[in-house]
Amino acid sequence: MLNGKRILLIVAGGIAAFKSLELIRRLRERGAAVRCVITDAGARFVTPLSLQALSEDRVYSDMFSLTDESEMGHIQLSRDADLLVVAPATANILARMATGMADELATTVLLATDKPVLAAPAMNVRMWTHAATVANVETLRRRGVHFIGPNDGAMACNEFGPGRMSEPEEIVAAIEAMLAPAERPPQERPLAGKRAVVTSGPTREAIDPVRYISNHSSGKQGHAIASALAALGADVTLVSGPVAIADPPGLRTVHVDSADQMLAACLAAGRIDIAVCAAAVADWKAARPAGSKIKKKAGMAPPSLELTANPDILATLSKSGPQRPALVVGFAAETENLVANAIDKRQRKGCDWIVANDVSSAAGTFGGERNTVHLISAEGVEDWPTMAKDDVALRLAGRIALQLGRPRRAAAAE
Ligand code: C5P
Repeated sequence: MLNGKRILLIVAGGIAAFKSLELIRRLRERGAAVRCVITDAGARFVTPLSLQALSEDRVYSDMFSLTDESEMGHIQLSRDADLLVVAPATANILARMATGMADELATTVLLATDKPVLAAPAMNVRMWTHAATVANVETLRRRGVHFIGPNDGAMACNEFGPGRMSEPEEIVAAIEAMLAPAERPPQERPLAGKRAVVTSGPTREAIDPVRYISNHSSGKQGHAIASALAALGADVTLVSGPVAIADPPGLRTVHVDSADQMLAACLAAGRIDIAVCAAAVADWKAARPAGSKIKKKAGMAPPSLELTANPDILATLSKSGPQRPALVVGFAAETENLVANAIDKRQRKGCDWIVANDVSSAAGTFGGERNTVHLISAEGVEDWPTMAKDDVALRLAGRIALQLGRPRRAAAAE
């Protein structure tokens, strides 16, 4: 719930602005108060009157209006909010945010604010993938702006690809995740003070500059675990291979390609209490990746590819020593003899727990929303019922908290 939370919604000029009307309704249903700032271009897509009717508050747009500035200056608009949401976040407003422009009320508020900012990009796929936008988003992420979406799909411009604004309910969920951790009472944050690293998604091993070895991991399970640990108060670094899903709000995401980079990012996180290796790391990489594209020549036999083993991140993090995390959790994706192989894997890798999941194509785990897992520890094997990946994540995070967290009674007494 968002009871009592104050959201400043900045509506920029994109066709997705119509979804912002629904967003206001959803936020208010959850108990939030919504105040809107609209850009000049935004007002071409939705009317200030609609925003005003749905938010039941006045709508701010004019930087130089005597009444707007005297009644509610740009600093006050930011002060009065718990969170700023830019939806739709067009290529244009992202560029203005990245360069620190303050050319109208919306951008001035964004420059003046010290509150968390969530942007929901919406634009044509070519604009989203343009090097300028990629660089702007990277800059904004580094400065702490959170992003939700964009999603893949058909767009108003008759193209297909990433660029559709996230749905209102997804944006509401991201807002709740950003605002909820601070809101939770201490007894609901049993992992406060604990540091966690979660690996997620596939890795990508270069054969040459244009070809690579990878797999179908979507990152959904690993990302959900990172979010669940953060929701229980842990300080989480998510190390993600290339995935099509958004960075979860409320934690740090480091993007990598290869297994070597993934291991380096895990080690760079420093001393941690919890490691969850949910990534589907490629077992092998090209022994000698070519520096330029391997050419196909007429009459030439197909080249052979020499492979070499990747570092085993789970086994490396599980090695005993003063730096070993208190709890290391691995995953076992198996198509047959699931539990027996997972028990064996726990021993071989030296980790504490293994979450074993069936990835035979009949189980639909890769890329799907649900997962059937078994938790294997020194105590034995627990069979969990089939659950949504988010629920598997919550249950696993709860178990981790039980194992490591401060006793609930002590936390409640704070
Ligand atoms: O050996 P296998 O790939 O089946 O083990 C799966 C577990 O090991 C997963 O937790 C995966 O994240 C981790 N792993 C790893 N580095 C590798 C291979 C697997 O961290 N190179």
